[in-house]
Amino acid sequence: MIILKTPEEIGIMAQASKIVAETLEGLKREIRPGVTTDELDRFAEDFIRARGGIPAFKGYRSYPKTLCVSVNDQVVHGIPSKRVLKEGDIVGLDLGAIVGGFYGDAAVTVPVGKVSPKVMELLRVTEESLYAGIAQAVVGNRLSDISHAVQRHAEAAGLSVVTDFVGHGIGRQLHEEPQVPNYGKPGQGPRLQVGMVLAIEPMVNMGDSGVRILDDQWTAVTKDGSLSAHFEHTIAIQASGPPKILTKL
Ligand code: MF3
Ligand code: CO
Repeated sequence: MIILKTPEEIGIMAQASKIVAETLEGLKREIRPGVTTDELDRFAEDFIRARGGIPAFKGYRSYPKTLCVSVNDQVVHGIPSKRVLKEGDIVGLDLGAIVGGFYGDAAVTVPVGKVSPKVMELLRVTEESLYAGIAQAVVGNRLSDISHAVQRHAEAAGLSVVTDFVGHGIGRQLHEEPQVPNYGKPGQGPRLQVGMVLAIEPMVNMGDSGVRILDDQWTAVTKDGSLSAHFEHTIAIQASGPPKILTKL
């Protein structure tokens, strides 16, 4: 069952999402060669709590940290550690916060210092594929119109979308129905309705789409070792026109 949200509930989700967006902006300024992923996690937790939010991931299915930090061939769910970022890395930052019992969830991938044009293209195309999906999140469309648009944009650039993880409905729970795959035929699945709130989150690889999970039981990496990028927004479908992007400042 897809739980529709009232305008008031969406207002609370916007507050949680704003904290997420502000934290991600703050984290971007902390990214530099020499910083550890644990330091980023600490920054994120302090930042969220200082604004009256609760870190959403910490304790979720025993996940130990506030932030997911996924470096280079890590796709998602990298656990912060003593790992030191270095020039040329790319870093996925995925973050959730709770305010008033409602969740917000977003992710970005950023370069550490200078990276090659090819790598910048991976980041750009992945973010564009998120926006291609968001553009389809309008009343009258079906769910898989979002999925199809994401896949089409990424694959047109010669990149591959990860199929082992999906976006999701979001509300009083981090993961609600429906699942939002980043691939598929258009015109399938439920019709999009006002009050639906979705986390759309393409994960795009430079090489093959295959992923595997490391022994820590969380970190997903590309099977072929290729670089991977991840962008995510929480969006609310409007009665007409494009969705409200709750995690955008
Ligand atoms: N944004 C991710 C998701 O929606 C991260 C959550 S995983 C967690 O699944 F366990 F760390 F919370
Ligand atoms: Co998510």
